[in-house]
Amino acid sequence: MSKLRVLSGIQPSGKLTLGNYIGAMKNFVALQHEHDCFFMVVDLHAVTVPQEPAALREQSEAVAALFVAAGLDPAHAAIFMQSHVSAHAELGWLMTTLSYMGELERMTQFKDKSEGKEAIGAGLFVYPSLMAADILLYNTNLVPVGDDQKQHLELTRDLAGRFNYRFGETFVIPEPYIPKVGARIMSLDDGTKKMSKSSPNAGSYIALLDTPDEIRKKIARAKTDTGRDIVFDAQNKPEISNLMSIYAQCSGQSLEQIQAAYEGQGYGAFKKDLAEVVVGALAPLQAKYNEIRSSGAIGEILQAGAERASAVAEQTLAKVKEAMGFLPPVRRRKG
Ligand code: AMP
Ligand code: TRP
Repeated sequence: MSKLRVLSGIQPSGKLTLGNYIGAMKNFVALQHEHDCFFMVVDLHAVTVPQEPAALREQSEAVAALFVAAGLDPAHAAIFMQSHVSAHAELGWLMTTLSYMGELERMTQFKDKSEGKEAIGAGLFVYPSLMAADILLYNTNLVPVGDDQKQHLELTRDLAGRFNYRFGETFVIPEPYIPKVGARIMSLDDGTKKMSKSSPNAGSYIALLDTPDEIRKKIARAKTDTGRDIVFDAQNKPEISNLMSIYAQCSGQSLEQIQAAYEGQGYGAFKKDLAEVVVGALAPLQAKYNEIRSSGAIGEILQAGAERASAVAEQTLAKVKEAMGFLPPVRRRKG
């Protein structure tokens, strides 16, 4: 396969979870050696809901460090902050002008995040137009994401097609790249809800930086379906099926292998082993995270990443503006 352009982003809006790792970051790492990769911390997306400035700063650096700790190599993949590349905000606006209210209203993430709220930020509503800009700026072929982002990707494809139809072939139409197992890791306290870093119950998710004891406790307390057999059946046994997906993704074993290994054993033995599998999978990531944070290397990584990203993004933005009929840029006068 020839080299493809790969891009994805994660919001710095809380602690990253095992869902982020399995659904998205693991694939970032898997794709980086074969393809031309761009991974960003989408801070402009995070501010679509209120963020405390000090917390945003800390989380932004933490997510960038987690990218590297999870195995991304800055020599291969560009790692950068969305707000460091101003073309995102600019193309985001242009994509907003191309988006219809009706299609934005249909986005399930918007419906979930705005449900029951009295004041809903306009940014939350146009969030998918900004995400489309993120992707289209880089002539992206593949977007590694979890299952919940499929609808946003569809909208991105629609907007790209709409732009190309109105203004001439400009954008590459991107494809989602979604894992077969683990595309939707569910909450530990409810097998019908997505594991989410914004959940008020910390017992419902495993954060990537949870201590081994926290992980053991959370898995021991995780809800399980009635019965005692370790069988994968996402429809009828969502909770044990979710734990099996986590086991599979953290151990490299298939669901069939896991099912065979635990035949005749109850949930207790399975959960005990699962906790060790997760602790073992996260230990190297956590060690590397601490090393990177204390080394102060993140600043330089983000600087280099933003330079690489800007070079590509600026070119696309210039093409877009010309196609839409904006006058050519004026040079800034000296003095
Ligand atoms: P977010 O935390 O919303 O910025 O999501 C970052 C990436 O992680 C996206 O690609 C999501 O689809 C993915 N992701 C988030 N939560 C989960 C989950 N529970 N299971 C699988 N993927 C997830
Ligand atoms: N919307 C994504 C999420 O909530 C984050 C995101 C923003 C993104 N821009 C992106 C993902 C571009 C992939 C590509 O998870």
